[in-house]
Amino acid sequence: MLHAQTFLFLIGGIILCSAEEKTSTEWWRNNFIYQIYPLSFKDSTGDGVGDLNGITSKLEHIADIGASALWISPIYVSPMVDFGYDITNFTDIDPVFGNLDDFSKLVTKAKSLGLKVLLDFVPNHSSDKCSWFTKSIQKIKPYDEYYIWKDAKIVNGTRQPPNNWLGAFQGSAWEWNEQRQQYYYHAFAVGQPDLNYRNPQLNEEMKNVLRFWLNRGVDGFRVDAIHYLIEDSRFLDEPKIANTGLPDTDAGTLEHIYTCNQKTTYDIVKTWRDVLDASPGPKKVFLTEAYTSIDYLMEYYKYGSNLPMNFMFMEDLRANSTALEFKYKIDRYLNRIPNGQSANWVVGNHDKFRVATRFGPKRADQLTMIATILPGVAIIYNGDEIGMENNIISWEETVDPAGCNAGPERYNTTSRDPARTPFQWDDTVSAGFSTNTKTWLPIHPNYKTLNLAAQKLAPASHYKVLKKLSALKKYPAVKDGSTEIIVVGYNVLGIVRRLPGKSHVVLLINFNDSMTVVDAASWMNIPDKMNVYTASVHSNIQVGESINTNEINLPPAASVILT
Ligand code: GLC
Ligand code: CA
Repeated sequence: MLHAQTFLFLIGGIILCSAEEKTSTEWWRNNFIYQIYPLSFKDSTGDGVGDLNGITSKLEHIADIGASALWISPIYVSPMVDFGYDITNFTDIDPVFGNLDDFSKLVTKAKSLGLKVLLDFVPNHSSDKCSWFTKSIQKIKPYDEYYIWKDAKIVNGTRQPPNNWLGAFQGSAWEWNEQRQQYYYHAFAVGQPDLNYRNPQLNEEMKNVLRFWLNRGVDGFRVDAIHYLIEDSRFLDEPKIANTGLPDTDAGTLEHIYTCNQKTTYDIVKTWRDVLDASPGPKKVFLTEAYTSIDYLMEYYKYGSNLPMNFMFMEDLRANSTALEFKYKIDRYLNRIPNGQSANWVVGNHDKFRVATRFGPKRADQLTMIATILPGVAIIYNGDEIGMENNIISWEETVDPAGCNAGPERYNTTSRDPARTPFQWDDTVSAGFSTNTKTWLPIHPNYKTLNLAAQKLAPASHYKVLKKLSALKKYPAVKDGSTEIIVVGYNVLGIVRRLPGKSHVVLLINFNDSMTVVDAASWMNIPDKMNVYTASVHSNIQVGESINTNEINLPPAASVILT
């Protein structure tokens, strides 16, 4: 017979075992994932547009900054209405980026550098130039049901869309098709018809897309716009939100209770998880993109998403948020992560303003520091590691449909072009991005001083901070320690990670725009003397300096990590 004590010990042993096993198979845990926007990373052909061979030539940079994986935004055949997020062929490379051989070379080199490769999976829609859509218009089986088709509503003898649903890029989400004599639904641009997941054959098709890339050595996917996947089949009008201040054409005026976050979406995610799990080799990672409530977000873990992307740094917190608001949002999120699952922190991406612009250049390093010291995965957008800023793009230069469709009065609040300009490698022609002086989006004029080559030489730079941060992710207290978020005095945010027998790791961020003196030792229960591990570029705090934590002088908007 087993004694109670032995029994407990055994259970303890089993739990310990499986937790450890998880950490060892889930290679992405406590690591950095680096997002590449391929049009803007590196041009190898001189046409002013980035490409696969360009990425391959710069993989050393991604290894150098200590990322574990790169996620590449769409590289598939596309008319580029939404710059690759409108796909005509899900299993081939657009000639602008290269071909499948170039992709294989990229994967081979990435693996040799110890980097995993993730692709963007765009399941919600295809391009209207996709052969499936052409066949759907002609009602050729099984394609006739691959999209969301509805009859017109006839009001006083005139044809109208079936309901009031609005597309994310302005205007009705319904487009009339003369040939089929029906409307089709598009959550995004007119050129991005939504796929119909009530049709099982369609999902089989998409599972084959996953298998195609898994067979080509891909280690996982970021799933695009997942919460838009399925629509309520009653096609009812969505309720209007009062006083948004937005024009009636803007999707922000509607409560998306019928077009987003539908329950059956999660079941589809699970079917894809099964495809990933059936793939041999290292465990495959699934990142899901949904700008949604915390309840809907957490639900994705149950259906096989490893990293339901956490957008709090873009959506909930902004430059004027207080330290207390940061504490609340971070605690709330961490307390909701299911047992055994990993948190994640998205610092920037191709859909939002640059972090250095959202929070200001002085605070460009802060969010990456928070994303590093907190448990989980830090997701970094290319260019943010050197503190790239939004470029000013005129109405005439604007190409993003989110900007173009909003018109000249409003485009600068909706266009994503400013955060998508080419990577600033050095101070040569077109910032070393291309040999062409004309690039698909204009190079930021600050490239002469703000570029990677300069930051490698500078005594303090965003690049150097980031390198320290990716190394810090491996510290025992940061991997496995306890986490406390503390508001230190007035408007200073403190985060402390502790692990018995190991060095504490402490982050302090001054949210005030003035010098602030704090007794962090008392507020945070940390040793009286600690060393500066890294500090925000504009703070002028010296790395390696020994600090009395009972009286720290924090320069305006400075952030510092102590060990
Ligand atoms: C996602 C992408 C965005 C794209 C949209 C439609 O939000 O990140 O760039 O426009 O989906 O595919
Ligand atoms: Ca959809």
